[in-house]
Amino acid sequence: MKMKLAIAGTGYVGLVTGVTLSDVGHTVTCFDVDEQKIQILKQGTSPIFEPGLEEMIRKNTEEGRLSFTTKPKIAYEEAECIFIAVGTPEGQNGSANLQYVERAAIAIAKHAKNNPVVVIKSTVPVGTNEKIEKILYEYSGHHLNVVSNPEFLREGSAIVDTFSGDRIVIGASDKAAGDRVEAIYKPLKLPIVRTDIRSAEMIKYASNAFLATKISFINEIAILCEKTGANIIDVAKGMGMDKRIGEQFLRAGIGFGGSCFPKDTNALQKLALDYDYQFKILSSVTEVNHEQKKHLFHKAKQYFQDLNGKKVAILGLSFKPNTDDIREAPSLDLIQELLLEGAEITVYDPIAMENVKKIYGDRLQYASSVSECIEDKEIAFIVTEWKDIRDTSFATYRKLMREPMIIDGRNCYSLEEAAKEHVNYISIGRKPVF
Ligand code: UGA
Repeated sequence: MKMKLAIAGTGYVGLVTGVTLSDVGHTVTCFDVDEQKIQILKQGTSPIFEPGLEEMIRKNTEEGRLSFTTKPKIAYEEAECIFIAVGTPEGQNGSANLQYVERAAIAIAKHAKNNPVVVIKSTVPVGTNEKIEKILYEYSGHHLNVVSNPEFLREGSAIVDTFSGDRIVIGASDKAAGDRVEAIYKPLKLPIVRTDIRSAEMIKYASNAFLATKISFINEIAILCEKTGANIIDVAKGMGMDKRIGEQFLRAGIGFGGSCFPKDTNALQKLALDYDYQFKILSSVTEVNHEQKKHLFHKAKQYFQDLNGKKVAILGLSFKPNTDDIREAPSLDLIQELLLEGAEITVYDPIAMENVKKIYGDRLQYASSVSECIEDKEIAFIVTEWKDIRDTSFATYRKLMREPMIIDGRNCYSLEEAAKEHVNYISIGRKPVF
């Protein structure tokens, strides 16, 4: 059944949702208050970097299923279902700031005329959907059903994740409203979890918090591997083959960043406190992550003692590959520590460099390739495992650096290779090679 849909917010989640739902045949109007963004989108350009998204925007716009507007009346008036997918940034004391969600709900209440189901996709604390239902009633004068439908997309692989996700979660108190949302997703042929609203809201936070816990856990095991002489790659493999544990999110590294895990782990801790409960595991997860982001710096400091005046290269700035997002990126912690030590820093990232330039300006030097970044440097830090960074051979490091010292936060190389190629190589959770 093809439906007329509207999406409030063309940020990461809203845009990917709108574009993919138009791609499976629905007619989608994406609304945003940001004129500039809507103009860019109308021209068929994506304001965010996401593999495959721009092509899909163009195709569905040309075929007449996808449109963009800054006018709430155009977006909401005839829509049968309206998704709220605006941001919920970290507010006071770590709790989610709901002002954009509330604003979207008020606009929907004023303009929607087709008795739409209002679907909350934004990540919101347990109980928020019910508050939104009240706001909708207050401003429209009649009852509109609200359905919780959290999203599980990852930046950099959002399109693939949409079409081959593990599940779609639909939390509804009204069965017909839940059915309508289920019908929208039917073409994706993915497993559906039907539940109540509060459980759906909790599934989102619990999932992100659990994945973050897995990462902090494996990062602590990596520290123990370094101390005891075990190898984290083999340890994670051996653990992950147990289906009860699972192999994913067991890559030890330099801590999780991005706009979701840090914010959502804080928000869940805050939610717990609001209910007079201290979420003990999560406070450790956050603490471990905070320390882990400094891990590469401590390794360099341990080896060189004095980093003042050292020429260093930082390879990769985004919080993970295939995105230009630097929110909570471990690269920023490393840059900060190295600047305090007086190191001379050159950075490289395929697409995130402009975002870092906005923060650090001429305090850093910017290279346009891996080779340019590492040339004549004393230390190369591998921070984000972009393909061109992973594909750089030890021979290239040897040719371009004086005496290569590679400190790899993403375990891009094997220890055998490092030994064979005679480079100094320090990685995570494995013996150093000197
Ligand atoms: C995360 C979740 O994976 C998505 O399911 C969720 O929808 C999204 O948050 C959200 O709430 O919007 P995302 O932040 O885009 O997605 O990125 P991830 O691929 O999950 O990576 C997060 C961080 O964990 C990165 O810094 C990454 O380097 C790190 N990570 C991930 C590791 O250090 N080790 C791993 O094994 C996996």
